[in-house]
Amino acid sequence: MTERGDVEMERQGAEDCVGASYHASVSSPSSNETLRYFIEPMQVRHIPAVSAIERESFPSAWPSSAYRREIQRNRMAYYIVAKRSSAARSQGQDTRFPITSEQHEDGGLFWHLKSLLRNDARPFSREEVGELETIVGYAGMWVMVDEAHVTTIAVDPTYRGEGIGELLLVALLDRSQELRAEQATLEVRVSNAVAQQLYWKYTFQNAGLRRRYYSDDGEDALIMTTKPLASAVFQEVFAHHRRKLLERLRTD
Ligand SMILES: CC(C)(COP(=O)(O)OP(=O)(O)OC[C@H]1O[C@@H](n2cnc3c(N)ncnc32)[C@H](O)[C@@H]1OP(=O)(O)O)[C@@H](O)C(=O)NCCC(=O)NCCS
Repeated sequence: MTERGDVEMERQGAEDCVGASYHASVSSPSSNETLRYFIEPMQVRHIPAVSAIERESFPSAWPSSAYRREIQRNRMAYYIVAKRSSAARSQGQDTRFPITSEQHEDGGLFWHLKSLLRNDARPFSREEVGELETIVGYAGMWVMVDEAHVTTIAVDPTYRGEGIGELLLVALLDRSQELRAEQATLEVRVSNAVAQQLYWKYTFQNAGLRRRYYSDDGEDALIMTTKPLASAVFQEVFAHHRRKLLERLRTD
């Protein structure tokens, strides 16, 4: 994951490039009907769910304002969420955004004022909660000139091991190729063996070390970079794993 300070710094020069209208084939309407999980562009309304997953995934989280700026202002940025389709079973985390009885009773106004006074997060409508509860992961990247830089990727702990992290990475790599990036790169904690396994699977290799990169505990970051995205070796590996993944996520 990219350090928050780097996000601030990069953002200043990051106003003019990617655009947010892309729909990867892993998110086409027909795929949505048959895959247990699917990808959508991240929207501001998704941020409470993203932040909840982030708090459970990283020792120090980006503030939600950082996501808002990334989505709304950084045209080099591409952020996505993974959602559970109606065919996938809920796995018991659907209590993060409860609709309290107070909300039901007074249409939400009393609850809203009370929570504002307590400085709580704002309450959610039943419809909003319905959508937030389907979000099981998220990821993002910047595409700068010819390089795709993965900034973050995380999956709800109760949904890990089901191919969702891989689906998110595949969607980022799909988009990187569509934008003609030459390679993809990222930083990962040297201790994060699980994430490194995922990246190795898609040809990322060690490309250097950033010493004491993570400000919370001073851990080093490994820099990992893919094989050139246009190379035969990347194309072969990518197509193979992508196909296997989509087979695995199909619901039939
Ligand atoms: C890293 C992370 C996103 C993986 O998501 P996930 O949905 O659990 O992973 P998937 O089920 O898609 O697995 C894809 C690949 O990741 C690797 N992987 C996943 N879980 C693993 C585990 N427990 N041990 C070793 N490798 C593992 C494997 O290579 C796996 O491929 P395989 O199924 O062919 O073995 C998830 O563990 C996470 O959110 N971690 C916390 C946040 C984080 O560290 N993000 C990375 C920041 S750089």
